[in-house]
Amino acid sequence: TSQFKSPQITEWRGYRIGPPFCASSVQWQFNNWRPTEKDVLVASYPKTGTTWLTNIVRNIIYFDHIEILEMLKSVTPIHTYIEGGTPMNFELMQKLPWNRKIWGTHLPAKLVNMKRLKENGCKVLYIIRNPNDQLLSWFKMSKTFPFNHNKVTDQFYPTEWNSFFETFVNGMQPLLSKEGEWYPDHILSYYPYRNDDNVLFVVFENLKTNTKEEIGRIAEFLGVQRTEEEINHIVQLSSFKSMKESAARFYEELKFFREGEVADWKNHFTVAQSELMDEKFNEKLSRIDIKFIYE
Ligand code: A3P
Repeated sequence: TSQFKSPQITEWRGYRIGPPFCASSVQWQFNNWRPTEKDVLVASYPKTGTTWLTNIVRNIIYFDHIEILEMLKSVTPIHTYIEGGTPMNFELMQKLPWNRKIWGTHLPAKLVNMKRLKENGCKVLYIIRNPNDQLLSWFKMSKTFPFNHNKVTDQFYPTEWNSFFETFVNGMQPLLSKEGEWYPDHILSYYPYRNDDNVLFVVFENLKTNTKEEIGRIAEFLGVQRTEEEINHIVQLSSFKSMKESAARFYEELKFFREGEVADWKNHFTVAQSELMDEKFNEKLSRIDIKFIYE
């Protein structure tokens, strides 16, 4: 898209919107997207396990339809993210033969029409991950971004770890952020909806250690009956190894499957960096009931 060729920062409702997204798409989905109770939206901050959770949802819903699961492997965020949602994308998805559409978004809740989604019964899954692993994963991915680097992108994505760290903890995020807002604010934006019937919070680290139980919980939320045997099979299909091996090239090129572990941050953060992260997150999230799992 043109956002890759000459990346620009645009703005809507005070949010800075950077490549690969652009304000007109963000605005378009907010005003025009009308999902139904059959739709599922996987919402997240980047690098928190979005692709993994999306794959689990796909496997739960289409377990009996291998041909659809195969086809979905080449359906990437470019097609399914609502903020990439030009009218053409939505029309294309509508034409595809599967019954329940699975969408994605990195938008903060304030830029998603949460009220309409609730009224229409669209299911929303929100995944969170400890912010240290998130930040490291984001740094590693930023090196693979396919845009032509320019002054705009370089100020946001320094190629050296310490500068990247500084930039990000100071809230300099081009992608879908308000000045000074970053990951903790994204969590805060979804937090008020966590007990709504159409919303389910999922924790990356719990998915890692309690995969089977978590998949069962997600299936129940989606209103899909799966036997224990089927759930065991879905555990295998959504393992890091199996997903990495069968992923389309898009995912490989952008480092969507890097380590898939908890606590890799310990190999990269200095003590001071880890303390600063704790401080920043405690400051913003002290009043809410979310405890990250760091190891
Ligand atoms: P790492 O870079 O730490 O390895 P997203 O899909 O939101 O971009 O998140 C990407 C992160 O999820 C990457 O983290 C990736 O390796 C991890 N991931 C993807 N699939 C996974 C799986 N099946 N099991 C565990 N982690 C997975």
